[in-house]
Amino acid sequence: MEMIHGMSLVVMTAAIVWLSAMFLCKKIRISGRNHSNRRSSSSSRLPLGSLGIWPFVGETLQFISCAYSDRPESFMDKRRRMYGKVFKSHLFGSATIVSTDAEVSRIILQSDAKTFVPSYPKSLMELMGKSSILVINGGLQRRIHGLIGSFLKSPTLRSQITTDMRNYVMESMAKWSEHSPVYIQDEAKHIAFQVLVKALISLDGGDEMELLKKHFQEFIAGLMSLPFNFPGTQLYRSLQAKKKMVKLIDGIIRAKRESNNIWSDAAKDVAEVLAKDTSEELTDDLIAENLIDLMIPGEDSVPLLITLAIKYLSHSPPALKQLTEENLQLKRHKEKLGEPLSWNDYLSLPFTQTVITETLRMGNIIIGVMRKAVKDVEIKGHLIPKGWCVLAYFRSVHLDDKLYDFPYQFNPWRWQDKETSNCNFTPFGGGQRLCPGLDLARLEASIFLHHFVTQFRWEAEDDSIIHFPTVRMKRRMPVWVTRRRYLQPFTSLLSNKN
Ligand code: HEM
Repeated sequence: MEMIHGMSLVVMTAAIVWLSAMFLCKKIRISGRNHSNRRSSSSSRLPLGSLGIWPFVGETLQFISCAYSDRPESFMDKRRRMYGKVFKSHLFGSATIVSTDAEVSRIILQSDAKTFVPSYPKSLMELMGKSSILVINGGLQRRIHGLIGSFLKSPTLRSQITTDMRNYVMESMAKWSEHSPVYIQDEAKHIAFQVLVKALISLDGGDEMELLKKHFQEFIAGLMSLPFNFPGTQLYRSLQAKKKMVKLIDGIIRAKRESNNIWSDAAKDVAEVLAKDTSEELTDDLIAENLIDLMIPGEDSVPLLITLAIKYLSHSPPALKQLTEENLQLKRHKEKLGEPLSWNDYLSLPFTQTVITETLRMGNIIIGVMRKAVKDVEIKGHLIPKGWCVLAYFRSVHLDDKLYDFPYQFNPWRWQDKETSNCNFTPFGGGQRLCPGLDLARLEASIFLHHFVTQFRWEAEDDSIIHFPTVRMKRRMPVWVTRRRYLQPFTSLLSNKN
């Protein structure tokens, strides 16, 4: 067995306990092993690789140990060298084909539920629930995806979200002190969660919001927990917290349905969009469950995008200088016009967008997506047997030195005049499940960066990125800020006096 590098005893023990638990919870399914020499009717064959020496555990410990180290891709790199970009393994209790090949992953992403269905570790599936958009397939998934996607593109929502995000950012930044560190990760989480909850259910601060946040934090703590569900376990606590959230949100949806305005006025949040839909499948519980899942990017992906951008910029003075100049120029221009910045203004800054793109490439906030084959599938000569999982692993593609020169260097300039919509760059997935929140994520990051660099200079304390089970900063990214002092324009001095 491969040596386990850099994995603490605690993590190792946790992983072993997790795997033993999985082993006890499920019937051992090692049917995948029967495929080892299998050939399909055509010339495709099972990719090379190893299923590990232990049944069920397979190569999970090696995967986790690398994921926790500061070189998380070493698991993949080693196997890519030995077996090629597509190889077989056995991860988290399932025989798995891992794709680190951009073209193969593209085909997986483009496939529909007749070929692949989403499949994630048991505790995650249980917490998301059977009706989560991340799990459901076919017409219902397309319907919910379409409703959310078009609402997030609507001009009214865009202008509301821009104003909300700007207000929350300015409110938070006004409280920052120069005499104690600001924890960027915490600040970004606080802001992004508020923005999303407002867009989802129009809750804007207050006791209900605080209660929801408390339950949500308990819920999210269980996303990668042991698959034990009885009183005292994290999974149990998280499921209880989800029940309380569903009840709270059900109440909000019921109140919306009972008010006459919901039918006459344009929808003002995602809950109303889904509640107005006439399909009987969209029950209040299904809507509530999906709204909860939609809060996850507010607590996790978006704040991490913001935090990582600031982390990378802290170590790249030329990039920070160009970004600051671009944003200061826009700020002065809009001040002259006496207008606030709009959605389009924030997203129109070319260098700021390349900074965000480069952060997405290097940060790999979502390392990849998992599916299960519902029949034998052949892609580029590789056989993926029915019942096997497939992991389309984006991280290896984003850090491939054949595709990106010096891939570990933060280089936003590499994106100048370069297309971002290709299969070598898939931070938001692709195909039917392409993230409907991708523009929103970029907007939130742009607004935060704009106000941060135009209002502050900062010194970052040492911190490092943890890559597993979710990407985050070890010390929550502490920075020491100094406010930029601007000479106030004469006109604003006059108006301040009044
Ligand atoms: C940096 C931020 C984000 C990243 C990196 C990200 C990444 C992803 C990825 C990779 C997928 C595809 C999952 C799959 O194929 O199984 C996805 C799906 C999804 N994302 Fe995001 N996301 C982000 C922000 C958001 C935001 C702000 C929202 C909006 C509320 C959102 C809503 C969704 C939804 C609803 C899906 C499921 C789509 C479906 O299965 O039909 N995401 N996201």
